Amino acid sequence: MVKKKTCIFISGKGSNLKNLIYRSRDNKFPIKICLVISNNMNAKGIEYAKKFKIPYLFINTKIQNYENKILFCLKKYQISFICLAGYMKIISHKLIKKYQKKIINIHPSLLPKFKGLNTFSRMLKNKETKAGCTVHYVNEKLDSGSTIIQKSFFINSNDNEFSLKKKTQDLEYKAFPEAIIKIFRNC
Ligand code: GRF
Repeated sequence: MVKKKTCIFISGKGSNLKNLIYRSRDNKFPIKICLVISNNMNAKGIEYAKKFKIPYLFINTKIQNYENKILFCLKKYQISFICLAGYMKIISHKLIKKYQKKIINIHPSLLPKFKGLNTFSRMLKNKETKAGCTVHYVNEKLDSGSTIIQKSFFINSNDNEFSLKKKTQDLEYKAFPEAIIKIFRNC
């Protein structure tokens, strides 16, 4: 199996990045992480790129045409697949067009419910009975591309934003790798 050269986009903690790095060290896992891009110079996740000697790049999204810099680097590292792992920026039309059905995202809710930010507080306010995560393709609309995998759990009366986040992230560490395996299982 030829591993797909993959770039992970992050903005913060990078625990999903860390998990994918570990998983991708397995010969049978379909992707090789060849590049990490962050729009936040202080993202903790960058430390994992350094630790595992993965090339990384900081992109200042305030600069005009920053997408060209991203596209240049993706080409340089021959990237054919992109995972958004806590990347807090909308992906440009140009990038989506270039990487049709090749960009996936992980979101901390059972989409189509609770697109966008502050998912856990909105879930609690809405008295939801179930929470979870969704791995989906990225298209032009926020958190709206087709679902690849969804994992859920029941919310109990003791749950708060902190516990929901912890339970959701534990599921994310299973869902993200499973989604990637599912995408490439016939390759
Ligand atoms: C995850 O919970 C993901 O669902 C959301 O951002 C968070 C990123 O966490 N999109 P981390 O940076 O991978 O720890």
